[in-house]
Amino acid sequence: MTSAGNLRLGVNIDHVATVRNARGGEYPDPVRAAKLAEEAGADGITAHLREDRRHISDGDIDGLMAALSVPLNFEMAATEEMQKIALRHRPHAVCIVPEKREEKTTEGGLEVAREENRLAHFIAPLRDAGCRVSIFIAADKRQIEAAHRIGAQVIELHTGAYCDAHAEGRTGDRDRELAALREMSAYAHSLGLEVHAGHGLTYDTVQPVAAFPEVMELNIGHFIIGEAIFRGLQPAIAEMRRLMDEARGTEARSAG
Ligand code: PXP
Repeated sequence: MTSAGNLRLGVNIDHVATVRNARGGEYPDPVRAAKLAEEAGADGITAHLREDRRHISDGDIDGLMAALSVPLNFEMAATEEMQKIALRHRPHAVCIVPEKREEKTTEGGLEVAREENRLAHFIAPLRDAGCRVSIFIAADKRQIEAAHRIGAQVIELHTGAYCDAHAEGRTGDRDRELAALREMSAYAHSLGLEVHAGHGLTYDTVQPVAAFPEVMELNIGHFIIGEAIFRGLQPAIAEMRRLMDEARGTEARSAG
C-alpha cells in the first residue's frame, strides 16, 4: 500500500454515483472507480450512504465490501437504519456525519457535545463489532473533547470553512480557519485521538492541511471526481498524492 509518509489518502467516490444517478442507469460504476482509485494509490475508499440515497446505494456498499482490497470508510448519519447496515457489513471504519435532507453536501460538523449520551450508546456496538469509529466535527475544542469522551478512536476535522474562505478570496478568514485546524489537530492528537481531515479540499488547498504532522488521513472526493473529467481518474488521484507527498516532505524538513 502506498502512502505519503504516514499520511493516507482516502478517495471519496460518492459523486461517481451522482453522475450515474442523473440518468438512473448502471454507469459510471462507483465500484469500478474505487478499484481504479486503489490502483492509483488510494489508501482507502470513502462512501457516504445518505438516508435519501441520492448518490451511493445499498448495492454500491455491497459491491465495495466485496471488491475492495483497501479499507472502506463508511460515512453515515447516526440513525438506527444506518447502524444496522454498518453492523451487517462491519467496514474497517465508520465515520459519523450530520445529515440534513435539504443540504447539498455535509454542511457542518456533528454536534457531539449536545448529544453526548446518545452518541456514546450509538457508537459502542460499532466499536464492539471491530469498526474504527470516526466523528466528523468542526475544529472546536468542545466537540473534540466530547468525541474523546464518547469513545471515538478517530476525529475527522471539517475543512470546508477553510476551503470556502480560500475560494472566496477571504484570506483573513482562510488563515484563521487554517490556524484553528492546525491547533485542534495537535490538541486532538494530544488526547490520543487519530486525526483525519476533509471536505472541499482541492489541489490549491490540500498542502497546508497535509503538512500538519498529526493528520493521518485526508478524505477527498468532489474535486478529484471533477478533475477526472479533464485528466482521467488515475492522473487526478496521482496529482493529489504528489501534492500530499510534497507537503509532507516540506513539513519533515522544516521540523528537522
Ligand atoms: N469527509 C467527510 C466526512 C465528508 O462528508 C465528505 C463529503 O462527503 C468528504 C470528506 C469529502 O468531501 P469532498 O467531496 O468535498 O472532497
